[in-house]
Amino acid sequence: MQRKGDVVSNESLANLLKEERRFAPPVELAAAANVTAEAYEQAKADRLGFWAEQARRLTWATEPTETLDWSNPPFAKWFADGKLNVAYNCVDRHVEAGNGERVAIHFEGEPGDSRALTYAELKDEVSRAAHALTELGVEKGDRVAVYLPMIPEAVIAMLACARIGAAHSVVFGGFSADAIAARIKDADAKVVITADGGYRRGKPSALKPAVDEAVSRVEGVQKVLVVQRTKQDVAWTEGRDVWWHEITGRQSTEHTPEAFDAEHPLFILYTSGTTGKPKGILHTSGGYLTQTAYTHHAVFDLKPETDVYWCTADVGWVTGHSYITYGPLANGATQVMYEGTPDTPHQGRFWEIVQKYGVTILYTAPTAIRTFMKWGDDIPAKFDLSSLRVLGSVGEPINPEAWMWYRKNIGADKCPIVDTWWQTETGAMMISPLPGVTETKPGSAQRALPGIAATVVDDEANEVPDGGGGYLVLTEPWPSMLRTIWGDDQRFIDTYWSRFQDRYFAGDGAKKDEDGDIWLLGRVDDVMLVSGHNISTTEVESALVSHPSVAEAAVVGAADETTGQAIVAFVILRGTANAEDEGLVADLRNHVGATLGPIAKPKRILPVAELPKTRSGKIMRRLLRDVAENRELGDVTTLTDSSVMELIQTRLPAAPSED
Ligand code: WT7
Repeated sequence: MQRKGDVVSNESLANLLKEERRFAPPVELAAAANVTAEAYEQAKADRLGFWAEQARRLTWATEPTETLDWSNPPFAKWFADGKLNVAYNCVDRHVEAGNGERVAIHFEGEPGDSRALTYAELKDEVSRAAHALTELGVEKGDRVAVYLPMIPEAVIAMLACARIGAAHSVVFGGFSADAIAARIKDADAKVVITADGGYRRGKPSALKPAVDEAVSRVEGVQKVLVVQRTKQDVAWTEGRDVWWHEITGRQSTEHTPEAFDAEHPLFILYTSGTTGKPKGILHTSGGYLTQTAYTHHAVFDLKPETDVYWCTADVGWVTGHSYITYGPLANGATQVMYEGTPDTPHQGRFWEIVQKYGVTILYTAPTAIRTFMKWGDDIPAKFDLSSLRVLGSVGEPINPEAWMWYRKNIGADKCPIVDTWWQTETGAMMISPLPGVTETKPGSAQRALPGIAATVVDDEANEVPDGGGGYLVLTEPWPSMLRTIWGDDQRFIDTYWSRFQDRYFAGDGAKKDEDGDIWLLGRVDDVMLVSGHNISTTEVESALVSHPSVAEAAVVGAADETTGQAIVAFVILRGTANAEDEGLVADLRNHVGATLGPIAKPKRILPVAELPKTRSGKIMRRLLRDVAENRELGDVTTLTDSSVMELIQTRLPAAPSED
């Protein structure tokens, strides 16, 4: 039965559930897996006991005796009477355990320079940087803004803050002076750490000018610490600006880490959402590190002695925080860090890096995978990718087509794919297959991890049965959950805890299949209402991309007099397909009709060269809706490339093609 306002209609659900391919975990991996099916049982029997046990992966200065304090929901405290130093856990303890010579970071610069940093060297660098921050007046409880390229100093800066108990606020290196200023102001940052520039698409790209401009507009920044990466000219403010290499160069490599409360703030990370003032998501220490370390160990099956792990995200996003800096380093992993873009100097750069370092675990995003599909199978085929054993995906729903391409062309049909659902707010992975346990299904994140409670509810907060669709909610607190929105407890309550009583509302649509496995359907704001039927943009996009001529698709609902909303699709065609081919558009519409049913046939399909994306790779459907509804464009400042929108607008046919 279809009710208006249900997030996803049953008809459209039935369609995605047609995906019947299944992949068993590789026998060898399963036999030696870090985590077996027993973990689900154990966590189910005693959820808090399970997390208390995971907290023992960390080295505590004072062991916690309390696990969860949920006496004042939604404000959680985890391991509240424990004390630890996060940087000590990520660095020193590995050196003390005799692993100082293990490489922590294989850095690969975009121009081809490289640098290996062992755990012993990382400890020295973090210690020096911690002393330097103290010399600059940073104290426990202060905030430090970080605006750096993807270089080891980004990780060192974060750990140095953690080491002295200052919260970092990393601002993605592609953001403007406006965005930096707003974030400095909101968090009241005392010091900014930046660089002269970084390498981007074969050229040095300046960073410091944006910081100079931002700092001139806000009060309170006392020092700007500048890493020298490109050696390009920089403007210099005497008394305020300090070279990183000069100040850290004269510090001691001995630094005694202080133990802080488990609930001591670790970082603030701003998440934009599609509208309104960015939200400063606050994460704290003990619970956050417990869950990032556990999930990195469990979901990637990380073997720190032998694996070479590579997460391609930027440290400016939560993925970089949790799965470059904190999780992997807490686990003593060896990882690759790459500065640049995937097509510099050639479209095989990622695969060349996998081959060069013998990467065994690769964690990337569906948007990147679809780009690689568009570039062609022949590119990865030129490289030796046989070292890979686990592949991860994060950031948005991965359509079955891209999942299968990833498995075949990157994973040689042998690597399990872990599709990990989580958010800036959740701090760590929440829903994902386990590589040695789960029989995977292309396109599904499948099941809440051990110790995590997630389900799907309808409009009235009733749990939907298997086979039903609705809203994804988290029903129990988890260790790495956000603690609040910085400076705005009420917004924290309103945004996440008010829609469904006592449950965390993630903002995502989801469905359960007949096995109870979860399929994510994108943000609920992206669900369309067509002639009284709710249709998820994700499903229509997925159907389009399953057509051999389509590389990528973005679907929006545009206001329509007859149907309420009409489906408008923007598609990027694969290499050989012709955008002027009238038959192709008809063919695509029929293809969607055949896959999802006639109701889901897009009213208009527009072939475009590029799609508007945020810098984290998410399609900005809001802008596409503006185009589809012939409105003036909204804010384009978070786009990677704002010329994309002009291109799309000029291609827009005057009259929509009718049936
Ligand atoms: C939103 C969170 C998680 C780190 C990067 C993004 C979407 C994320 C998946 C996935 C389907 C996903 C959701 C979520 N999302 N991972 N595996 N399958 N959707 O962090 O910027 O805070 O975005 O990304 O819509 O709510 P973020």
